[in-house]
Parts: sequence; structure tokens; C-alpha cells
Amino acid sequence: MTNVKETVGRKAADYVQSGMVVGLGTGSTAYWFVDEIGRRIKSGELTDIKGVPTSKQTEDQARKLGIPLVTLDEINQIDVLADGADETTTDFNGIKGGGGALLHEKIVAQNSRKIIWIVGENKVVDYLGKFPLPVEVIQFGSWKLFKNFDRAGMNPSFRKSGRDSLFITDSGNYIIDLHLDHIQNPQQLAFELKNMVGVVDHGLFLNYPDVILVGQEDGEILIHE
Ligand code: A5P
Repeated sequence: MTNVKETVGRKAADYVQSGMVVGLGTGSTAYWFVDEIGRRIKSGELTDIKGVPTSKQTEDQARKLGIPLVTLDEINQIDVLADGADETTTDFNGIKGGGGALLHEKIVAQNSRKIIWIVGENKVVDYLGKFPLPVEVIQFGSWKLFKNFDRAGMNPSFRKSGRDSLFITDSGNYIIDLHLDHIQNPQQLAFELKNMVGVVDHGLFLNYPDVILVGQEDGEILIHE
């Protein structure tokens, strides 16, 4: 059986050329992109690459593969970023953060010249919201925020890590997942969430990718750009 994540992840490496600064996404699809970058560096197909990881998890993987890393603050711009998504429409809106890395992913994305999303066809949707929307909140006052979301009918749940502890992001925050089912107006919701004190950021990535590579079960890849 085709491994859709692997096929699409490796394919995204075709957008990378020697000498580039490369944004390294997070998740089980981005894993294969990072793996392929490591492979091409090792084989000599790619030289003089600098990687900017979007999470501790990706940083660890990249280090093991021997991909030279830099921090965002050391470079002017990232040439190409490849990252996964939890949901995407074909008009370039999506939800990210299923793996909890949304804040760093968004910061890296905002500093990238070209953004490629790599997804399986099951991630492509007509409207957003079936996937719970992650909202990263600072720990202080988070229970109050939770209650506000609850009162507003947004069906919040704190992201857990294991049975008893709450998930902590790479920046030391909590994640509240909003179970919205169908987000009628993503722009409006993004605006409202950003204006709530205590919310650091949210998983709505509106108009972010320049290219969406959609891996199909039959091994083909559809390209939206
Ligand atoms: C990480 O926080 C996420 O934004 C991932 O990019 C997203 O969840 C997609 O992950 P998978 O490729 O593992 O589905």
C-alpha cells in the first residue's frame, strides 16, 4: 500500500535547491520531508542547506540526520517551508496545530517566501471546523478563558498529555481545542480569538500556503497553486 504521507513529504523536497534556508514543518507528514532533506544532503544532491525547525521534535529529527540548523533570528528569510496541515480547503485556508506546534509553525510560516503544505487527500475539506481548532493560551487565567469559550458554545477541551497532565507547548503554554464542527466565518473567528487577552495564537492559517501538495491513495499527487 502507498504511504501517502511519505510520497507527498518526499515530493516537497523537489522545491528545495542548494544554498536555501528551509523551514522544517512538524508532524507525521513533515517527518518525511525532513527525512528526504537529510537524505539529499547526505547523498550530495543538496549542499549548503540551512534548516529552521518548527518544533523541538523536528529539531531533534533534523539534528540526527545531520541537517545544519539556524534560528529564525540568524537569517533574513526562509526560502521554502514545507509543513503538514490538519484540514485544508483548496482556496488556501486551513487548520494546523494537531501536534501542538501551531505557534512556532505560524511564526516560521510568516517568515517564509514560499509555503508548501503537504497533506493526504483525507485532509482536504469544503469548510473548516470538523477538526478541533487548537488555541494556544498562556497558563495564567486559562480556566477563565476556557469558561468563556464554553459559555460562547465553542465546546472547549484542554489538550491532555497522557491521562492526568495537560499538554504543554514548546513555549510553555496550554492548548484549548474548540470543537466547532463548522466554522462559518474563519476570518471573523481568527480576528476575535486574536483579540482575547491570554490567547497567544490559534490554529487558523488563512491564506498561508502558496502550494498544496495532495497525496492520493493511488500514489498520484495533486498540486494546488
Ligand atoms: C503540528 O502542530 C501540526 O500543525 C501538523 O502540521 C499537523 O497536525 C499535521 O500533522 P500530520 O501530518 O501528522 O497529520
